[in-house]
Formats: sequence, structure tokens, C-alpha cells
Amino acid sequence: MSNYEKILEFWNQRARDHKTAPTASMGDVLLMDREVDTAQSYIPEGSRVLDVGCANGYSTLRLARIKKVEIDAFDYSAEMVHHAQTALEAQKSTLKSPVKFWVQDVLKFKPTTETYDVIIAIRCIINLPTLAQQLEALDNLWLGLKPNGKLILSDATKQGWDQLNALRSRFKLKETPMPWHNLYLDIEAINNHFQGRSKHIHVDHFASTYYWGTRFLRPAILGEYKTANYSSLFNKIFIRFPNLGSFGIQKIMIYTK
Ligand SMILES: C[S@@+](CC[C@H](N)C(=O)[O-])C[C@H]1O[C@@H](n2cnc3c(N)ncnc32)[C@H](O)[C@@H]1O
Repeated sequence: MSNYEKILEFWNQRARDHKTAPTASMGDVLLMDREVDTAQSYIPEGSRVLDVGCANGYSTLRLARIKKVEIDAFDYSAEMVHHAQTALEAQKSTLKSPVKFWVQDVLKFKPTTETYDVIIAIRCIINLPTLAQQLEALDNLWLGLKPNGKLILSDATKQGWDQLNALRSRFKLKETPMPWHNLYLDIEAINNHFQGRSKHIHVDHFASTYYWGTRFLRPAILGEYKTANYSSLFNKIFIRFPNLGSFGIQKIMIYTK
């Protein structure tokens, strides 16, 4: 089995285990909610939106509840999309926006028209195992974006990871590992790739204070923990703080066409 196939099977298994629960995509649901709530502030009402790597649609449907837009959403895991359809049926009456889910691999997605005002990819691109594949996927998405449209990436970053581990090591805390199925985004490489093509590049450190409080301060005070507890008091408190500085593995990057 290739690495690519192993990663697809990883997500199919998550779909089987978690079904329509938010944890299909990530254990830290407080962070996920803050992520969508921040990303939505960059999406104008009335936009035609494409959500790439939507998993079981938890974040897609949260966005559809908050904003009046039109959302197309795909994922390459048919099992994830099956649960997204189930969730859509159950939540339809609560949504402000129409939503359509389908099965699609971002590497095979080659749009021929500039259809979307906003294309958003939340924690999807890091699942492509090489930088070349990540850039190929972003080029595909760029083709589908209207002029002045926004490509919004919310992802774990190499720069944020290095910064967190540098601080942890000063306090003799272990390095936070990168999951086997991820290659964190290299913001510098992606910014260079879009240099001259993107009119404007913006980075939002939306989880800066939250990461500092939960991934550094908490283990520095209480010691390392064996299993993550995303509903600890630290998480509940620090999710409410405004952002200070440019800390945090997870960031939102916005490229304007
Ligand atoms: C961490 S989940 C993110 C889910 C969702 N965007 C959210 O906000 O919670 C990553 C998703 O990306 C999908 N994915 C990974 N590689 C993909 C690819 N090549 N094409 C389409 N989807 C992909 C996985 O199947 C998985 O459902």
C-alpha cells in the first residue's frame, strides 16, 4: 500500500469510528469551532464557496449555519461523505445556506471555469505527503477561483510547530510529534509559490494564545500528559482569550487572486 493509500484508509477508518461526530476530523473540537468562526469572518455573504476536504461536514455545516452563502464541499473519503450527507439531512432546517457534498480527490480536481468566490481547505492539504503534491493541489484550487477570490487555508504549519517545540525544549518538555499522516505546511514555500500571482497574502494566528496556554503552559505547570484532554480547564479558559502574538501550529493563510 502506498503512503497515499494508507492516508486515505486512515480517514476511512476515522469515518467508521466517529460517524457524524466532530471528532472524526480532530479531537480538539474547541479549536475546530474557533477555526470556522474565524474563517467565516473572511467570507462575504452571498459568496459561492468550495470547501475542500470536508470530512463528515461538521465544519461545513457550522459555516452554513452562520453565513448565508452557497457551499459545495468534497472529500476523497466516500465514507466521510456518506456521513456528511446524513448530517446534512438531519440539520437542513437549521442552515442558512444550501450545501452540496460529493466525493472528489483534490489532486484530480481540475476546474475549467473560475467558479468560486472563496475556496476553503481546513486541515486537508497537510494530508498530501509531499510539498510537490501540496502545491499541485493548491494550483488546482487556484484554477477554480474567480479574480479577486480568496483561497483560505487553515492548517498546521511547520513554522508554528518549530516555534512551539523551541519554547517547549527550553522548559525540558518533549518535542510535539508531527502525526505520521501529515506534512505540515511550509508557509514560506507556499508564499513563494504564490508570489506574483496572489495580490495579497495574509496570515491569521487565530489560535496563538490557545496553543500557548494548552500546548506549552499547561504541560509546563502540570507536567507532560499521556493522553490529550481537550476539555481540560486550560482549554476551556484559553479558548476564550483574544490572540496575542504569532504562536500556534494551526494558522489561517489567505491568498487573494
Ligand atoms: C482533518 S480532516 C478535516 C476535515 C474538515 N475540513 C474540518 O474542517 O473538520 C482532513 C480531511 O481531508 C481529507 N483529504 C485528505 N486528502 C484529500 C485529498 N487528496 N482529496 C480530498 N480530500 C482529502 C480527508 O479524507 C479528511 O476527511
